Amino acid sequence: MGITLGDVFPNFEADTTAGRIKFHDWLGNSWGLLCSHPADYTPVCTTELGRMAKLAPEFKKRNVKIIALSIDSVQDHHGWTKDINAYIGESSVQNLPFPIIADEKRELAVQLGMLDPSERNKEGLPLTARAVFVIGPDKTLKLSILYPATTGRNFDEILRVIDSLQLTACKKVATPVDWKAGEDCMVLPNISEEDVTKLFPKGIHIKALPSSKKYLRFTPQP
Ligand code: BEZ
Repeated sequence: MGITLGDVFPNFEADTTAGRIKFHDWLGNSWGLLCSHPADYTPVCTTELGRMAKLAPEFKKRNVKIIALSIDSVQDHHGWTKDINAYIGESSVQNLPFPIIADEKRELAVQLGMLDPSERNKEGLPLTARAVFVIGPDKTLKLSILYPATTGRNFDEILRVIDSLQLTACKKVATPVDWKAGEDCMVLPNISEEDVTKLFPKGIHIKALPSSKKYLRFTPQP
């Protein structure tokens, strides 16, 4: 099983550190970021959740609700939270600024195609890989990335890609390699030369190419 871009993200019900949730209701009209983790009390996951906590204001600024998932219990999640906060120098803080889903029966891990058969716990059961799902306010999947358990995510990249997704959801541009918010964008290939002037009042720059084809069209970020 799994989920592909454009699919409606499952409206699952789950127990979390913030109580029981129904996913679509929890999301409301926000964007969503769901990150899965192999297990509680593991080193890479601890660094990742610490970074998510530190970056919570950045996600809020972008109207993105964040949520984590691991296959341990709510009780374990609460205990682990103390370690995560200690790791980021916030020992006096009791909670994280986002819920952690307790997927103890691995139901969501199976439904969303997140199990990594090459990483197993002491009982030989597969652990969840590091899935990243970005869900739009229309509840459809906008991005998915799957990292193996042994490689921690790059949250600068996750913020960068959210900036691109949010921009390209409302403007007729695409973002080039290594683009960062504020940098020049590309005019979409399906926009005719006639439409370019009215759609891009800041102007465009066309890169001359050996083929003479005019497809490398840059424009300031709209
Ligand atoms: C970790 O989070 O450090 C980890 C978890 C499972 C396998 C490998 C690393």
